[in-house]
Amino acid sequence: MKVSGAVRVPGDKSISHRALMVAALARGRSELTGLLSGDDVKSTARVLRRLGVDVSTVRDGAVVTVRGGRLASPRGSLDCGNSGTTARLSLGLLAGQRFGARLTGDASLRRRPMRRVTEPLRAMGAHIEEERGDSLPLTIRGGRLAPLDYASPVASAQLKSALLFAGLTGRVPVTIREPFRSRDHTERLFVHLGLNLKVDGTAVSFVPTDRPTALPPYRLEIPGDISSAAFLVAAAVLAEGGELLLENVGVNPTRTGVLVVLERMGARVERLNLSEAGGEPVADLLVRPARLGATEVTAAEVPTLVDEVPVLAVLASRARPGAETVFREVGELRVKESNRLELIAANLQAVGGDAEASGNDLRVRGGGTDRPPRGRVDTAGDHRLAMAFAVLGTVPGADVRLSERASVAISYPQFFKDLRRIGEGGRGKGARHRD
Ligand code: S3P
Repeated sequence: MKVSGAVRVPGDKSISHRALMVAALARGRSELTGLLSGDDVKSTARVLRRLGVDVSTVRDGAVVTVRGGRLASPRGSLDCGNSGTTARLSLGLLAGQRFGARLTGDASLRRRPMRRVTEPLRAMGAHIEEERGDSLPLTIRGGRLAPLDYASPVASAQLKSALLFAGLTGRVPVTIREPFRSRDHTERLFVHLGLNLKVDGTAVSFVPTDRPTALPPYRLEIPGDISSAAFLVAAAVLAEGGELLLENVGVNPTRTGVLVVLERMGARVERLNLSEAGGEPVADLLVRPARLGATEVTAAEVPTLVDEVPVLAVLASRARPGAETVFREVGELRVKESNRLELIAANLQAVGGDAEASGNDLRVRGGGTDRPPRGRVDTAGDHRLAMAFAVLGTVPGADVRLSERASVAISYPQFFKDLRRIGEGGRGKGARHRD
């Protein structure tokens, strides 16, 4: 296919969750523009409503208003749906509250580890009851918390944010030290709102003010999600011609690893019209097709592109024949919405590619452009697998059949429409997506 046109990708998922949750604590009416209308963010809105917060309908293009101040004891369980961010960050919010709440989620979320968050929260003084070990459902009863200085074994922004939220709601100082720096949207939002937060290398410290002054309500503009943009970037890189503009994309350096790695593979993505929104850097991205080579993605880079490994692996499979790309230390992918590490390798193999998970590394060898991918892909209901392999389905001669495509509603409800649209201006049919 040939690409053309300009697309606005949906709002950043990570920032959308944080914007809603912090607004829920701010006394008064906050206004959020550009909020993602995907199912994960709707899960956060639903949980907050259960906690007595007035959140207007989350709809594409709508300004979302939040009347926050204080959270109230919920009636019934808090259903976090498919969203790990909702579950883990909510645990942090609830750690400083004096009531109990039971959190649960869908089958995928109920398989994901929670002790990485509950252990440090317990160390702060929160009471947490497990029903099935290291997973949801959990019941948390917060209250008086103690300060925390925590060296985290994983670089996880969800964990870091949960602890920062516990410090905020429990009004105690917290320091979190990470092995590598993870996305810093919570830190930026805190600083943007005038909270006392300091970053020193991979350590983050929050110190509450002495007086329990209420957080002020705010207006926030949420930039487009680079993790969603990455799929269209990849489609443009694999295209036979043309160029594509992606407007208003968040380019926070803790999220732009995908662009850094793409450049090493031979695809340059230009950043135009750099600006700032709500303490976050924003740019338009201009992408053109490129011939790809291999690269090695280091463990330190992984947090900056953790959600982009599926689509980068798909790109690596289209690199020049034999070029081997290695993703180091991506074991965390086993505990995402699916076991992404195994499924990326298995699905690339299923369409004729050459990939394997060895230990915590993922290796993908390029097959060149004259071997079209053909076969059936098991997305396991994972939105990022569905989108990554849909992109692979756009290359000439491809016949990639996805086991389902509805999961894109989690983070990018308009994905298939946008993917079709960017290819419509060009010649040739290119992609075929079959359910
Ligand atoms: C997220 C952090 C990452 C990422 C997820 C969103 C966040 O998870 O994979 O999609 O919003 O903080 P981890 O914190 O588990 O690395």
